[in-house]
Amino acid sequence: MPRLGVNIDHVATLRQARGGHEPDPVAAAVLVELAGADGIVVHLREDRRHIQDRDLRLLRDSIHTKLDLEMAAEETMAKIALSIKPDMVTLVPERRQELTTEGGLDVATHKDRVQHIVTMLHQGGIPVSLFIEPDLALVKAAHKVSADFVELHTGRYANAKRAKEADGEFEAITQAAKLAYKLGLGVNAGHGLNYQNVKRLTHIPEIVEYNIGHSIIARSVLIGLDRAVTEMKALLA
Ligand code: PXP
Repeated sequence: MPRLGVNIDHVATLRQARGGHEPDPVAAAVLVELAGADGIVVHLREDRRHIQDRDLRLLRDSIHTKLDLEMAAEETMAKIALSIKPDMVTLVPERRQELTTEGGLDVATHKDRVQHIVTMLHQGGIPVSLFIEPDLALVKAAHKVSADFVELHTGRYANAKRAKEADGEFEAITQAAKLAYKLGLGVNAGHGLNYQNVKRLTHIPEIVEYNIGHSIIARSVLIGLDRAVTEMKALLA
């Protein structure tokens, strides 16, 4: 069975909306683990718009499954990773010029910088995944810079409007997963996956882990509302 990593950035986004302390992503991570998730994913952005340095420190101490830190391929971020020691780092694009047109890390164009960061992280014993579009040239480039994993960007598959388009994207993910596996890379996948579109991807045996955030946090808001309102009504009674 593939593993599930749950991205809890949105919990921090909600907290930052008020600048207070709730909901605390650390509490969310505990609940996510109790529910059976195989890992927690957070993106420490350079602008700190959601996850904060404090979150990362506390998450490192409290997570018992696996902490996957998403970050830009920058030295300052690599130094933070080396001090926190997450179980894995996933390098993601943060600035427009680092993107391919669709949104993954352009590891072919930024080969030297990505290589430098991968080497830094490897020297600290941290495995590295690269978040890339399902493109064979990018898979080869990820292999060349000695990445341990690729995370195949499933956004185009998830956003496909027509069945034929979704079929084409599914095929691209399948081929990229096969090549990555053949080259000895671990294969993860994520972005835009939800309760309707994830099942089909599980027919690609090379994908060992799914990283899912938005749809899970969005659903938790809706399925948790009934209880939250009931509890407030009880206080007012
Ligand atoms: N994987 C990576 C590398 C991401 O950057 C994100 C979004 O933060 C996800 C997976 C999760 O995407 P979503 O929130 O659409 O499930």
